[in-house]
Amino acid sequence: MKRVAVLISGRGSNLQNLIDAQDVSYRIILVISNIEGAAGLDRAQGAGIATTVIPHTGKTREAFDAEMDVALRAADAQIVVLAGFMRILSDGFVRGWEGKLINIHPSLLPAYRGTRVHERVIEAKEALSGASVHFVVPELDAGPVIAQASVPVHPSDTPQSLADRVLAVEHKLYPEALKLLAADKVKLEKGLAVFTP
Ligand code: GRF
Repeated sequence: MKRVAVLISGRGSNLQNLIDAQDVSYRIILVISNIEGAAGLDRAQGAGIATTVIPHTGKTREAFDAEMDVALRAADAQIVVLAGFMRILSDGFVRGWEGKLINIHPSLLPAYRGTRVHERVIEAKEALSGASVHFVVPELDAGPVIAQASVPVHPSDTPQSLADRVLAVEHKLYPEALKLLAADKVKLEKGLAVFTP
């Protein structure tokens, strides 16, 4: 059973689904938020999971990441899951957790990395969008994909309606991908996501 830490900044709906989906492959042992009062902290506490707030303000990126690293190592975390964590991580932190650090992004990567995803998808009149779980590498949203799910984009969609549709598939996809990693069924090898049965 892998010890998982989840980093959040906000409402934590993905965190909630990761909590609810816990099985023999993983246990969430710590939730870290960079934002005090983030709703996701209440969800963790409601499930009896330890929480820590590590504010990023007034710190260099490296100092903030080093503080998180200390908390993660102290908790004996084996996997770190980003779930609506709104900070870019330093190269050093990412390298230190290489192959053990995953993120969910609300697009069909490699398309639409970065921010304002749903606005851009609608502007481009895409017929499909979706969500991707990927290993985190130093380049933003550029790591190899572990799992993806698509949703249709309707002509009447607003960024919010599309975000809601994508979020619904995120909630299924993220626990599935985490279980693959926790069960050692996917590994990051030479920059690729390599799957074993
Ligand atoms: C999700 O849309 C996720 O893809 C993005 O941030 C959002 C987090 O939502 N990275 P929540 O905090 O899990 O509800």
